[in-house]
Amino acid sequence: MNYRQKKSRVLISLLLCISVIPMFFNPSWNLSVYSFGPWKSSFCSCLKCIRDGDPRFREQIDASPEPFLPRKHSISENDFLWWKKIKQEKYDFAFFNATVDKVFEMLPIISEDVEPRPDRCRICAIVGNSGNLNGSRYGPLIDLHDFVIRMNYGPTRGFEVDVGTKTTHRVMYPETASLLDHTTHLVFFPFKMEDFLWLIENVGSDLNKQSLANKNLVMILNPAFMKHVHQVWLQKKGAYPSTGFMTLAFSLMICDEVSVFGFGADSDGNWGHYFEKIKVQNFGTGYHPGKYEYNLIQQLQKIQKITLYKGH
Ligand SMILES: *[C@@H]1O[C@H](CO)[C@@H](O)[C@H](O)[C@H]1NC(C)=O
Ligand SMILES: *[C@@H]1O[C@H](CO)[C@@H](O)[C@H](O)[C@H]1NC(C)=O
Ligand SMILES: *[C@@H]1O[C@H](CO)[C@@H](O)[C@H](O)[C@H]1NC(C)=O
Repeated sequence: MNYRQKKSRVLISLLLCISVIPMFFNPSWNLSVYSFGPWKSSFCSCLKCIRDGDPRFREQIDASPEPFLPRKHSISENDFLWWKKIKQEKYDFAFFNATVDKVFEMLPIISEDVEPRPDRCRICAIVGNSGNLNGSRYGPLIDLHDFVIRMNYGPTRGFEVDVGTKTTHRVMYPETASLLDHTTHLVFFPFKMEDFLWLIENVGSDLNKQSLANKNLVMILNPAFMKHVHQVWLQKKGAYPSTGFMTLAFSLMICDEVSVFGFGADSDGNWGHYFEKIKVQNFGTGYHPGKYEYNLIQQLQKIQKITLYKGH
């Protein structure tokens, strides 16, 4: 960006500061516009970066293992043993190593650049599947974010007004898989060894075979990161973290600002999905520490690390 563009952006952001609030939902704006100005932080180029402020929070973030498995994966045996217990896996560490190697043989080498940079501003929307999105009209606001991270089969078609249309990342595992378009990142959550084998089958390099996702855009959640989130962030509550909470956790690592939509119960206290009529009132969240996770999310909102949109 040249100086003139920069100057006009500063001007625009100043103007926005004055007039922005009543017009915030205008979908033609680009949220990144807020990112330029004289208040630049050293962690990112947004107005406010997750790593700004209390250094203890930053230290916690920086102390976490890499959220995604790098090509030269090297999880410890302890991390592997924790992961293996989730689904009572029978395979051993050597088989895990060999399988993950095979996955990476199939994936092209892509830059694994998820660290924050002073010249970059990544504003993310995480969109959960809570029924509180029904009637929320958050769609245009969600689409303004640079990254829109959706979970499992949470659909957009037919729900655009409430959930938006854009999907830059979709979190999936085999049981919740759906076909992705070629611009959407597959954020793969492995819970058992078969999941890696499934990935090899379905994101294959055979161009003739229809593949589920673009193999250039595959990110695999690191079992060591899952364990860290469970043991350190969630204090070992529940059997392992929910998909939603792990999504929030990795977003704090790869985004500079995070907005959270579609988490928690609706205003009647139900934990349904926005795309399904509630069948059972008040159904809980199974073996995931739902309430504990939601309290943590509210704390993150309180210390202004995320913006929580509570919906309807
Ligand atoms: C928003 O603006 C940034 C910075 O100019 C640009 O890189 C990005 O592509 C824009 N996003 C959209 C959705 O227009
Ligand atoms: C698995 O890989 C890790 C990391 O590269 C290595 O430290 C470990 O020795 C390997 N273990 C087996 C049994 O292959
Ligand atoms: C969404 O809300 C509308 C209006 O209250 C209701 O008629 C509809 O059944 C809800 N949809 C779902 C999937 O719960």
